[in-house]
Amino acid sequence: MLDLVTPVQGRVAFYDLSRKQESFAEAVVAGLSRTPKSIPSHFLYDAQGSALFDRICALPEYYPTRTEMRILAQSAPAIARLVGPEATLIELGSGSSVKVRLLLDAMTAPSAYVPIDVSGEHLLAAAEALAADYPGLAVAAICADYGDTFPLPETPGRGRQVAFFPGSTIGNLEPDDAERFLSGWARSGVDMIVGVDLVKSRDVLEPAYDDAEGVTAAFSLNLLARANRELSADFDLSAFAHRSRWDEESSRIEIGIESLKDQIVRAAGHSFRFAAGERIETEHSYKYPVAGFQAMAGRAGYRPEAVWVDPDQLFSVHYLKA
Ligand code: AVJ
Repeated sequence: MLDLVTPVQGRVAFYDLSRKQESFAEAVVAGLSRTPKSIPSHFLYDAQGSALFDRICALPEYYPTRTEMRILAQSAPAIARLVGPEATLIELGSGSSVKVRLLLDAMTAPSAYVPIDVSGEHLLAAAEALAADYPGLAVAAICADYGDTFPLPETPGRGRQVAFFPGSTIGNLEPDDAERFLSGWARSGVDMIVGVDLVKSRDVLEPAYDDAEGVTAAFSLNLLARANRELSADFDLSAFAHRSRWDEESSRIEIGIESLKDQIVRAAGHSFRFAAGERIETEHSYKYPVAGFQAMAGRAGYRPEAVWVDPDQLFSVHYLKA
């Protein structure tokens, strides 16, 4: 059983499982002690990081969000048929819970919505807003990393359990981890609707991760600002820069923060030395061709049931049957 921490006003049950996670302090100390330095990408999403990520999603260069929205809007009736009536929709990395509305609106009598996100306050606000708009729906929010294993809350309804994992967030996992992650859900008998960014040309990919307005750079550097806020770190943000590049061979965007000079930074009671040009790796964003992703889903125990792609072949949405 999950322990119910905050039964909020209204109908949102809120389960806080974030204590089980490695703390930001532990992650920063361990990550900056390693060579190469790295900090797991989910720490980018504190309240300010989540707000910056929402701005990324609206950037002209960042095609994934609007393309996936269009695909979902078009394919929602077909997806809803595969999901069936009285289903429970579990959203992994739910953020602002915007895309899921396209599915809920098309579904027949959805029973429950279970948003899961690491950013607790953002999660709760989004879940409450959604619950207000869907009066018949049970809403149970779980504050956790989508990659963790956790028990699902009991929900009403006799339909399928279907996980919704949009945004190509699966691309943040190393391919082996992505396959293991899919197997876990497949073994639980949960179907999966997953958004996956497609491999495409460098000229489209690189600007999407380094926009002209500098929002993506601010999103990256917020990791250091967060360390300053929460860990009494003394990162000088002007002495670091956001870097990203498409690595065709590994089929991923590599995102990091580069030290612009030799420097020593204090964080969480420790000192860390940076050489000029040294990077903290923050994110990998893997891109998959349709067949490549389907093959991986198959190895994980899923049957690839349907896939939708936009006319420009930028992005894909897969329905995987457990
Ligand atoms: C949420 C992981 C899918 O990789 O496109 C966007 C994160 N980072 N710009 C992505 C991200 C910088 C995003 N994912």
